[in-house]
Amino acid sequence: MTWNPDQYHLFREARSAPVRDLHALIPDQAYASVIDLGCGTGEHTLTLARRYPQAQVTGLDQSAEMLERAQAQQAPNLHFLQGDLSQLTGQYDLIHANASLQWVPDHPTLLTHLWTHLNPGGVLAAQVPANHDHPSHRLLTDTALDFQDELGGDARFGTAHGASPVLSPARYAELLDALGGTDITALSKIYPVVLNGSDGLIDWTKGTALVPYLSRLDEPGQQRFLAAYRKRLHAAYPGERVYYAFTRTLFTARRPA
Ligand SMILES: C[S@@+](CC[C@H](N)C(=O)[O-])C[C@H]1O[C@@H](n2cnc3c(N)ncnc32)[C@H](O)[C@@H]1O
Repeated sequence: MTWNPDQYHLFREARSAPVRDLHALIPDQAYASVIDLGCGTGEHTLTLARRYPQAQVTGLDQSAEMLERAQAQQAPNLHFLQGDLSQLTGQYDLIHANASLQWVPDHPTLLTHLWTHLNPGGVLAAQVPANHDHPSHRLLTDTALDFQDELGGDARFGTAHGASPVLSPARYAELLDALGGTDITALSKIYPVVLNGSDGLIDWTKGTALVPYLSRLDEPGQQRFLAAYRKRLHAAYPGERVYYAFTRTLFTARRPA
């Protein structure tokens, strides 16, 4: 998948509200090792490095494009690494993941794996978009069904309707409890964004949900796909103002000392 940092940053402010809520849920304690999974361009990793100056903070991402941009984030206790978060190695006091776990399938297995990389007393803190039932994602899947052959025989990728691995807050809480977690918080919240009509919705999804689709198509295919998606979105949202009620799930838990 090819990520485009500029496209992702079009909505930087709207995308930073949930991470502020996530950071407010992280218990204040002395973390010595922190990892930010799917760190992207690293702004939030830098926030963690400044918040925990005594900790070694690592930003992990598999996208070379995002990591290249992350090099601009500088702190003495911060470094970045290329890798797959589902294959995490090492032990950490704080495992942080903002808007990244939704790209990895099978969250019961993923959480179990991440848990084994938490030190005793350590904290897991994650935020995942839970918007897969929204018309923006349903219409993306409908569009993809018309492009199934060009997409390699499938129509559901990443965070699209029918493909998202994201679970309910209650299910995350149960999983964390089953792992032995304490101080569990799991909640769902709407983070609304006001967009300029259906084109605004495309600009938003281009930064995330559309990435796995556009990555699988050549340039003319991308243009045809976007035109077909735009047509569906425009029929559903003909007005100039779209109130995009974007749902996200946040969860935190501590591994007992
Ligand atoms: C929506 S961006 C979020 C970036 C950043 N955490 C933020 O909040 O701004 C998702 C990031 O997850 C990364 N990602 C997706 N799957 C991954 C995986 N299996 N391992 C590591 N990084 C992954 C992508 O490369 C991308 O940078």
